[in-house]
Amino acid sequence: MSARTILIMGPPGAGKGTQASHLVSEYNLRHVATGDMLRDAVSAGTPLGVEAKGFMDRGELLPDDLVIGLLREVIAGLREDQGVLLDGFPRTVAQAEALALMLGELDRGIDVVLDVQVPKEVLVERLSGRWICRTCQTPYNVNSNPPAAPGVCDKDGGELYQRDDDSADAVTNRLDVYTAQTAPVSGFYREQGLLAEVNGNQPLAEVRRSLDGCITSAAR
Ligand code: AP5
Repeated sequence: MSARTILIMGPPGAGKGTQASHLVSEYNLRHVATGDMLRDAVSAGTPLGVEAKGFMDRGELLPDDLVIGLLREVIAGLREDQGVLLDGFPRTVAQAEALALMLGELDRGIDVVLDVQVPKEVLVERLSGRWICRTCQTPYNVNSNPPAAPGVCDKDGGELYQRDDDSADAVTNRLDVYTAQTAPVSGFYREQGLLAEVNGNQPLAEVRRSLDGCITSAAR
């Protein structure tokens, strides 16, 4: 079987990052998360990071050409036998069309698009309680998934912090941007028979089981 290409999408706070750590280890995938890549660029103060910061703090998407260029480098560098989990890309139909071209050039297809769905009011509550490890990016939640010791990552002892774009104003904007610009991407993949909708408003283990079921069905 050729290397898997799996996409995970869903609104801010749906649990994409949380579930990604299970998926990458279970299916031996490389985790490619555009949000994490952009936050790394912001921390490092690269030209891309300087340009990205304003968009991210306001909860807006970066221009398509910037993100597509970033992803093109990553996709082109994948080994033929390396599976990949794309998290946070594509976020517009233009990005989805560009991805199809990039994968086509490598003779790769998309196995399944996991669309994690959670009601808006739950997302707002989750994001207000989220803390993230500065070192390994593992997300925690003071209400549903707290670390063993407050402010410290269970995995590597890293410091936990709250993202600038988890402020109330930025979250409202991110959710509106998702509805306007990213929700149509679901329709794009539904038409191609690739979309698998998953109820993300369940306990972590249940969401994980549902995602595993979608991946197994896609492999048949
Ligand atoms: P990105 O980093 O991709 O953020 P996002 O899509 O807004 O998603 P989040 O990381 O906020 O949420 P998540 O679904 O990963 O949730 P998590 O697992 O942490 O993008 C950030 C920004 O970068 C964008 O706004 C944009 O500016 C830019 N950008 C990125 N990609 C781009 C692109 N392609 N084009 C243009 N711009 C781009 O979980 C959330 C919380 O809920 C946690 O506290 C967690 O513990 C908790 N939780 C998770 N699952 C459950 C559960 N089942 N039950 C209870 N609590 C749960």
